[in-house]
Amino acid sequence: MDGNGRWAQLRGLPRLEGHRAGAESVRDITRAARELGVEALTLFAFSSQNWARPADEVAGLMELLREFIIEERAEILDNQIRLEGLGDTERLPPHVKGPLDELRSASAGNRGMVLTLALSYGGRESIASAVRACARDVAAGVVKPDDIDVERFERYLPTAGLPPVDLLIRTSGEQRISNFMLWELAYAELVFVDVLWPEFRRAHLQGCLETFGGRERRFGLTSAQLADRSDV
Ligand code: FPP
Repeated sequence: MDGNGRWAQLRGLPRLEGHRAGAESVRDITRAARELGVEALTLFAFSSQNWARPADEVAGLMELLREFIIEERAEILDNQIRLEGLGDTERLPPHVKGPLDELRSASAGNRGMVLTLALSYGGRESIASAVRACARDVAAGVVKPDDIDVERFERYLPTAGLPPVDLLIRTSGEQRISNFMLWELAYAELVFVDVLWPEFRRAHLQGCLETFGGRERRFGLTSAQLADRSDV
């Protein structure tokens, strides 16, 4: 969700106003994704590296997160959405972690869309954490080093409970991954949109889904092989 700061700067506003406008896009896109039948929506709201931003920006973002979780509670529950957190959520201040944990457990039984907020999240950090957990199992004799393959390793990742990533959308025109789901994006389709996040709305999401629908996903195979498979 990139471009909040630039959106504000273009209007001569403080950066936090860009984040506030960005929170409106979050509400609109969450609703649109559910209505369009998206199975899982993950929003990269705060990275492990974002803690190093100015203290007032971090505090303002935390307040917006708290407001979102509290204000959207009823809509999330009414629409069978399951809320998840991804990242080092232990680092979040209690006024964010409390409502987040409460809504996670209140929505745990919901079987509609899963909405994941990536908070204090980093792709490299989550791989390092998975390696530590896997190494502990090896040291305990639960896992043999030779048995560690792709399928077994990814069970240690914090995204193990989520479906594979089909589509990554990055707004604002930047073309970088910026430490997001480095392992999980292996075969994801990447779409970079030249729209600042506070202006990203349902129609843009629909456009991205159409772009995704037009891509040929080969997963290392050839087009001919894929054609043979679809004949079966
Ligand atoms: C990146 O844009 C955006 C963020 C670091 C924060 C994203 C937060 C929100 C959209 C609002 C709160 C979130 C929720 C889930 C309610 P940037 O600040 O790096 O923009 P810039 O590159 O233009 O400076």
